[in-house]
Amino acid sequence: MPTDSSPAHAPLPSLPSDHRELVLKVIPMPADCNANGDIFGGWVMAQVDLAGAVLPARFVRGRMATVAVNQFIFKQPVRVGDILSFYSQVTRIGRTSITVMVEVFAERISSQGQYLKVTEASLTYVAIDLEGRPRPIPADAKSAWTAPA
Ligand SMILES: CC(C)(COP(=O)(O)OP(=O)(O)OC[C@H]1O[C@@H](n2cnc3c(N)ncnc32)[C@H](O)[C@@H]1OP(=O)(O)O)[C@@H](O)C(=O)NCCC(=O)NCCS
Repeated sequence: MPTDSSPAHAPLPSLPSDHRELVLKVIPMPADCNANGDIFGGWVMAQVDLAGAVLPARFVRGRMATVAVNQFIFKQPVRVGDILSFYSQVTRIGRTSITVMVEVFAERISSQGQYLKVTEASLTYVAIDLEGRPRPIPADAKSAWTAPA
């Protein structure tokens, strides 16, 4: 099981199998590249925002908006053809907001059977009403959640 204590650039033998949930898989295309030929950081950020919204959507049950990217770390470049796996975990539920940690792992042709952690990010989503104002997270959804140890 990969952990954050792994050396920063060490390949991992497997994808997470713990409390983190797989919320998105995608393969970047040449059109997503920057001038260096690596994948454009803005593309990665957009995918992380989409992936990060999945778990909050279950709690919010309605409209929501991204209010903050609290942290975003590009640990390693992403390449065309990488099979990217986005794992997410809810780290906090407040009155109207939900914060998640998203971790992205790359499966690369040149390192078959190994996984590189390329990105990690923390984002906060807010439940909003029809006028776009914050609204409380439904109490029953909130009470079903336990904070990670
Ligand atoms: C999301 C939005 C409705 C929140 O309105 P607001 O007046 O800032 O709301 P509040 O100050 O009452 O905060 C609402 C929640 O967001 C959290 N929040 C606000 N600013 C935050 C920040 N910078 N970082 C983390 N959390 C934040 C608050 O802690 C609160 O959470 P809680 O109720 O769980 O404690 C408003 O900021 C907005 O519409 N932003 C634009 C959203 C958007 O367009 N996103 C897409 C960007 S492309």
